[in-house]
Amino acid sequence: MTDRYAVVGNPITHSKSPQIHMAFAAQTGQDIDYGKLESPIDGFAATANAFRVQGGLGLNVTVPFKLDALAYADEAGEAARLCGAANALKFEGERVLAENFDGLGLCRDVVHNLGHRLSGQRVLILGAGGATRGMLLPFLAQQPASLVIANRSLDKAQELVELAAAHGDAQACGYEDLGNDVFDLVFNATSASLFGQTLPIPHSIYAPDALAYDLVYGKGLTPFLKEAQVAGVRHIADGVGMLVEQAAEAFAWWRGLRPATEAVIRELTVPLV
Ligand code: ATR
Repeated sequence: MTDRYAVVGNPITHSKSPQIHMAFAAQTGQDIDYGKLESPIDGFAATANAFRVQGGLGLNVTVPFKLDALAYADEAGEAARLCGAANALKFEGERVLAENFDGLGLCRDVVHNLGHRLSGQRVLILGAGGATRGMLLPFLAQQPASLVIANRSLDKAQELVELAAAHGDAQACGYEDLGNDVFDLVFNATSASLFGQTLPIPHSIYAPDALAYDLVYGKGLTPFLKEAQVAGVRHIADGVGMLVEQAAEAFAWWRGLRPATEAVIRELTVPLV
């Protein structure tokens, strides 16, 4: 019998998740169907309930339902609990399990696909929203030499540093405090790129051989990546690998086997020009 999965969001038409998961299923010979569910904004639980009644076994969850998804679950993994949000649900009989694979997917992309270490490196995250929350646990687990969170609103960055304190050291600062320190890896986890906005960060933050990574995908050369290039950064990446890797984590969690990601990433890659 075909097992059913779906991605739920609002809006959902743009989602690449069905394409990614069906590619994984074809590659691994898994008999699954993976659809898209557009839920009413105030109706996540009802949408998830209806899907389960129809035999659905798992959901990926995207904007704006990641908080609802965690609240809906009976049990949650540590990353989901720390960020207060889930991006994957698994239905086991009456039980609902929640995970958040965004940060883990990003780590895998950086380390396995792009060949950059996080351990022992100086890491800067720009932004202190939901995306940054998801990065805290997997990033600290890699034991970077330092982890700095820079945000327009300093209090939000400080809040995340406190949240992560049980798992490791991080520092908070504003953009105006950047300039004296140099970083090996710089991640844009703000939503600035979605609006074509440039962040006020000095060119001097990049170490030789640094990686500049924008978490958005499919936008080509974002203002952040363009500025990094102007600053002389040779290694730039967008979030397409993160998207595919977090999907692979969910697929492995649901199906018990990990698909290869390289061909799927290649298929979805939009050139950074
Ligand atoms: P997400 O869940 O995608 O991380 P979010 O929680 O709305 O989204 O967070 C968006 C982040 O982008 C925040 O850190 C926000 O900064 P503030 O906390 O100061 O609002 C940041 N951001 C958005 N637009 C920005 C801009 N033009 N310049 C600097 N930071 C920006």
